[in-house]
Amino acid sequence: MDPTFELVEAIRATDNAVYLLDQRQLPDIVDYLPCTTGQDVIQAIQVLAVRGAPAIGIAGAYGLWLESRRLRDTPNFHDELKKSAEQIQSARPTAVNLSWAVRYALSHVQSLGVDDTIKTLKQIADQLLAEDVALNRQIGDWGLSLFDGKVSLLTHCNTGSLATGGYGTALGVIRSLFREHRLREVFVDETRPLLQGARLTAWELSQEKIPARLITDSMAGSVMAQHLVDGVIVGADRIALNGDTANKIGTYSVAVLAHYHQIPFYVAAPLSTFDANALSGADIPIEMRNPDEIRKLRGVNIAPEEIETYNPAFDITPGRLITAFITEKGVIRPPFDKTIRDMVSGNAP
Ligand code: MRU
Repeated sequence: MDPTFELVEAIRATDNAVYLLDQRQLPDIVDYLPCTTGQDVIQAIQVLAVRGAPAIGIAGAYGLWLESRRLRDTPNFHDELKKSAEQIQSARPTAVNLSWAVRYALSHVQSLGVDDTIKTLKQIADQLLAEDVALNRQIGDWGLSLFDGKVSLLTHCNTGSLATGGYGTALGVIRSLFREHRLREVFVDETRPLLQGARLTAWELSQEKIPARLITDSMAGSVMAQHLVDGVIVGADRIALNGDTANKIGTYSVAVLAHYHQIPFYVAAPLSTFDANALSGADIPIEMRNPDEIRKLRGVNIAPEEIETYNPAFDITPGRLITAFITEKGVIRPPFDKTIRDMVSGNAP
């Protein structure tokens, strides 16, 4: 294992606190935000100090553990803990990993006493963090099987160590290709409005000296038209049973461009990102965010203060624009209506 791949840790836990790498300040400042209550974690998730679907799931599980410590002497301990769980899991609505992780953790402690609940919740959060890294490495291995020879890829948003327990999903596949000397270069969409591509993905890739070129979102079509990329690879916040996929705003545009240019479009995500309750993209709630995220750039006005905005954090890429999903258990190909159900219910495709 190459130790340089372990450089970035979005989430660190000690015996009495959780430290979240404050991603708002990257790439300028590397600073960890201490959290000692569930509210601290909710706040960090909402302001995107911690972000990315798997990372907010893990942070949510740690938030529940912190709540169990805070509520230790409360008479109706389990009722109060359940309320906290509901608050944590609704901190952001789109990434299903958050509610999945919180519900998973809660389901393991319902019949336990207070001390055992606290201990178990910490163990579960630690386990989710460690397992996520292992899952991502498996996603990386499966991803290798999709490409022949040396490839150039385009990616959107940040799906790396910062967005996960470590290694990354789509960026994990990119890391695996690089490790195998099969990556020519990566084109990184800057990802307006919050610049997760420019600030975070470009930062992760630069640290590891993975060859990359940063582009504005509007350049993706031109890059494809000039045959500079062999494929697109992105992550996901929630995947419906028909393959419709919620991911960072702008992903849909990239998928349409890839389709037009007949370039394969891959989505890399753990199975916990698939939502068995969502039949299609219409069932996926899309988070709307503060207008100032569009009107301002790092605090500086770039538009009239009074202009109305439309600021969804995510969009839905229809399953028919997706070539395949890369999961820890294997690659899922169309027809997604059948293959996703088979995979989610535990049957390999
Ligand atoms: O708003 P963000 O930064 O949390 O959005 C993140 C994304 O859309 C990622 O692509 C997705 O969560 C997958 S991360 C492995």
